[in-house]
Amino acid sequence: MDLQKIRKDFPILNQAVNGYPLIYLDNAATTQKPRCVIDKIAEFYSNSNSNIHRGVHHLSQEATSAYEEARSYVARYMDAGKDRTIVFTKGTTESINLVASSFSILLSAKDTVVTTVSDHHSSFVPWQQACLKTGAKFKVVSLLPDGSLDLEQLRNLLAESPKILILPHVSNVIGRINPVKEIIAEAHRHGTAVLVDGAQAIAHIPVSTCDIDADFYCWSGHKAYGPTGIGVLCAKTSWLEQLPPYQYGGEMIEDVSIQKTTFGPLPFKFEAGTPPFAEAIALQNALSYIESIGFAQIRQHEEALSAYAFNRLKEIAGLEIYGSDKDRAGVISFNIRGAYHYDVGVILDQMGIAVRTGHHCAQPLMTFLGIPGTVRCSFAIYNTLEEIDKMAEAVQKAAQMLS
Ligand SMILES: Cc1ncc(COP(=O)(O)O)c(C=O)c1O
Repeated sequence: MDLQKIRKDFPILNQAVNGYPLIYLDNAATTQKPRCVIDKIAEFYSNSNSNIHRGVHHLSQEATSAYEEARSYVARYMDAGKDRTIVFTKGTTESINLVASSFSILLSAKDTVVTTVSDHHSSFVPWQQACLKTGAKFKVVSLLPDGSLDLEQLRNLLAESPKILILPHVSNVIGRINPVKEIIAEAHRHGTAVLVDGAQAIAHIPVSTCDIDADFYCWSGHKAYGPTGIGVLCAKTSWLEQLPPYQYGGEMIEDVSIQKTTFGPLPFKFEAGTPPFAEAIALQNALSYIESIGFAQIRQHEEALSAYAFNRLKEIAGLEIYGSDKDRAGVISFNIRGAYHYDVGVILDQMGIAVRTGHHCAQPLMTFLGIPGTVRCSFAIYNTLEEIDKMAEAVQKAAQMLS
């Protein structure tokens, strides 16, 4: 893998922040965009922009074909197979809200919904609210000290045949890769549907929704080198056929009269209004960029970055890293004992290093860990071992300054 060539594809990386070359380690929040994505957006608005599915005219047809081609590309990218449908949304949050809202019609007081303490608020809160509305019980799987899911507790909860299980493919705080295939197989033995939050997985590990047999798989384009405002819900068609629409409006109907409305076919039933078509089209470029590098190389590189960072940070006295180094994607959360995470982030920023600090939209996990927040570094294909060295040196300095 030619790292220098890859770095040149990302124009934003070539800048100084506070007098230092930018080291961008906030990739779990959003990744940077390669030139092919930036150019595609400019090219689309310059040459092909027109609302889709609505016009007989040339531009509309061209934009519609590109949008539907992007849908097919996404389906192939995540190996959706013939039994799943791709719905475009504006992000993981909307994809999960869509399912939680529509799935609520199947929930009643005798049902249970299971999620995990490591879920992001965008998968935790919509289901908590769905349970409040329907009276369904809301149960939460804990973690073991190494940051892995408590699989025994999960097995016991699945034995009660909950209606649906929600879990992250990769934790956005601890970086743990969950064994989703095995968990989904166990859930299905008990008649439980599974929604996987793939926001932190989709650009970093190969995902085959057919192989893991996910009922619902959600992610955001902006965390996969694509534009903001575009997300994906990949769901079993049989589920989407049973569920009511999430929003109402143009494009999702079959027929509207004063007396009643009938809804259109999938996926349009779930895509009310003008969808983010320019973003969907540019997302295809992001995915083809990922594929041009290949997951074998991406995983090898990010595993190396993660292992190196873990070991470098472990050497720093007074540092606590959350979770073990096993089954870790490129996300590491830590704290300097006695120091506030925010102060560490500010010191790193002064040296041009972008990390995230705070609760990372995972307050149940922070409560579980007994901390208000962490410093989180997260990696992408363009990060280098030298950048990790600089980050570790900066953390070492911060530790000396703050303790
Ligand atoms: C695991 C996880 N799920 C969901 C989300 C929400 O993604 P978005 O804000 O793009 O909808 C994030 C974002 O950080 C995340 O890390």
